[in-house]
Amino acid sequence: MAGTTTTAATSLPPGPRMPKLAADVAALTRLGPFMRRCQRRYGDLVSVRLHGFGTIVAVGDPALVKRVFTASPTTLHSGEGSPLGPILGSNSLLVIDRDHHLRQRKLLLPPFHGERMKAYEELIERITREEVARWPEGEPFPVAPTTMRITLRAILQAVFGASGEQLRRLEELMPPFTALGSALTPFPQLHRDLGRWSPWGRFKRMRAEVDAVCDTLIAQARRDPGLAGRADVLSLLVQATHEDGSPMSDAEIRDQLMTMLAAGHETTAAQLAWAVERLRREPAALARLVAEVDEGGRAWRDATIREVQRVRPVIQFSSRLVKEPFELGGYLLPPGVRLVLPAALTHHDARFFPDPGRFDPQRFLDRKPDTYAWIPFGGGVRRCIGAAFAHMEMDVVLRTVLETWELLPAGPDERPERMRFRGVAYAPSKGGVAVVRRRPPRGRAAASARPTAVAAG
Ligand code: HEM
Repeated sequence: MAGTTTTAATSLPPGPRMPKLAADVAALTRLGPFMRRCQRRYGDLVSVRLHGFGTIVAVGDPALVKRVFTASPTTLHSGEGSPLGPILGSNSLLVIDRDHHLRQRKLLLPPFHGERMKAYEELIERITREEVARWPEGEPFPVAPTTMRITLRAILQAVFGASGEQLRRLEELMPPFTALGSALTPFPQLHRDLGRWSPWGRFKRMRAEVDAVCDTLIAQARRDPGLAGRADVLSLLVQATHEDGSPMSDAEIRDQLMTMLAAGHETTAAQLAWAVERLRREPAALARLVAEVDEGGRAWRDATIREVQRVRPVIQFSSRLVKEPFELGGYLLPPGVRLVLPAALTHHDARFFPDPGRFDPQRFLDRKPDTYAWIPFGGGVRRCIGAAFAHMEMDVVLRTVLETWELLPAGPDERPERMRFRGVAYAPSKGGVAVVRRRPPRGRAAASARPTAVAAG
């Protein structure tokens, strides 16, 4: 039915009859609790009218989530209407749809295949060791600045293939560039160059500087005689070809590098900060994790990462724009409706995760999460292409931290941190405060006995 021409009347699921402004405030400030309240009252499909977005329909049942994620990319769009185009570039995977999206995605997927992720483990371990070596012992500090530096350097080296002067330059340029880009994204009316001191003027100059470094990296890769032996994502994109045999253009590669940085840097850093924030409040899970690290295992760590993503998803929802009448749960949704799939609904639903309020990695131990109930990486043809990379990175960073430092449990006066939007992702409001004690070398003995991690998303 979806996507077919139909004469049947379109219809919308029920939802709260509240002023749009009140709905905006509820959705922007407390999306999870607001959506859960609506779901209890109206069911697994709820319509909410918002300013700017028009009508959204929130989806809270995995069977319906599956229908959305597996619908034709002609019927449901994801890139259209995104304010990211002017920021990331017109080829960005995040802003394109249909054939253009499928063609670019096909070129970007192979470098992120799970099996390839092993190539990056040593690099990420080295970056983490350098970064956490400076942690202060015995006094509280936020881990987010460290996790932001780790994930930035990891992407610049593993994805951009940067080293030496280019790495140094990008590490200097990227933090202010991404901060300004995030601040400007929600305000398209500011996307006008009114001179060098205007926000957009500054952003355009910064983007030109970043582009110049990327162009150097692309040019170096194109003439690198050792290209075939390189592991970074850029080196694979330079060798990738479209179906007609033509190579990716410099502009295409640049836009996708920007996209991977925007989508993969702050998200992974925030998720790691949440891991620290949660584990300090779950001493039993933490103790088991440390024991497993010392024994050289990894199953509990895998399960813990997934449980952290269940209880604190840093991207709160995936969304799709209905382009053709779309049948869902007995309703025929009209074009223009935006479907929203909040992780806060399925992740906290006792039908799919018994006792959902409890932090319990056991639920994922040696068991893959359900594709349509556990959705921190979205799904279908728009599922996060960096999921395996992010999982591997979180795995290696957590292991390396726990080999070096004892993470002290939170005291009774340390309240759970709130979710705070940082421009791309929801991070802990205080940056994931930690108190650490250096571990005696005994605890690190297992490092040599460690099995290699098989990246999983
Ligand atoms: C914990 C870390 C991460 C989380 C929680 C996350 C989450 C997501 C989500 C929810 C989406 C939208 C999926 C949908 O609409 O169905 C997405 C898309 C995307 N992510 Fe990630 N992501 C993470 C890390 C990364 C990394 C490390 C990279 C790359 C290096 C990356 C690259 C992308 C790209 C390119 C897309 C667009 C895919 C498309 O539209 O086809 N992400 N991510």
